[in-house]
Amino acid sequence: DAALNPVIKPLEWMLGTWECDEPGEGTFPTIQPFRYTETLHIFHVGQPMLNFMFNAFHSETKKPLHRECGFIRVEPGKDNVAFIIAQNTGLVEIEEGKLSGQELTLQSQSVSRISFAKEPHVQQISRTFRLKEDGRLEQTVCMATEGQPLSKHLHITYRKRAS
Ligand code: HEM
Repeated sequence: DAALNPVIKPLEWMLGTWECDEPGEGTFPTIQPFRYTETLHIFHVGQPMLNFMFNAFHSETKKPLHRECGFIRVEPGKDNVAFIIAQNTGLVEIEEGKLSGQELTLQSQSVSRISFAKEPHVQQISRTFRLKEDGRLEQTVCMATEGQPLSKHLHITYRKRAS
């Protein structure tokens, strides 16, 4: 395995395969609340960035649903972090934010989509990753659409898979 590039040392706490410990909660003012499961693969290949794949599933049928993949970069020697993300729904986004210990808060800087993406179109996304004291990882995602101001869409916690 490649040695960890020192640039991404501040993000080392995110590395691993993370499986939700219980189903996550999906909400939004315009939809029926739902539950989902999700596995995160966050890894590196020795480059100064993390690679990720987030795969969500229907909590009962286990069918694949939402998927995201991309890269996580940190400005060398600074606490500025950037996510470069592609989603299977046809959305591509850049999110930027600050690292504060083992908590990362990001806001979308740009959101683009394919011409035939489903409506309503997302206008803005903000999310937080936090390593809890018990070793679980927590992700919260808020979004704004054409019709709704920034509201919570997702909340989930994960346990690291033993490697
Ligand atoms: C609905 C965006 C992640 C499951 C929606 C809607 C949008 C959206 C715009 C429609 C809301 C409306 O009708 O007003 C996003 C974005 C995500 C994300 C930007 C990531 C940043 C996820 C994940 C799941 C999920 C991880 C897990 C399975 C759903 C479901 C609905 C929904 C079940 C309601 C039914 C539907 O419209 O398909 N999402 N979503 N989403 N999302 Fe997400």
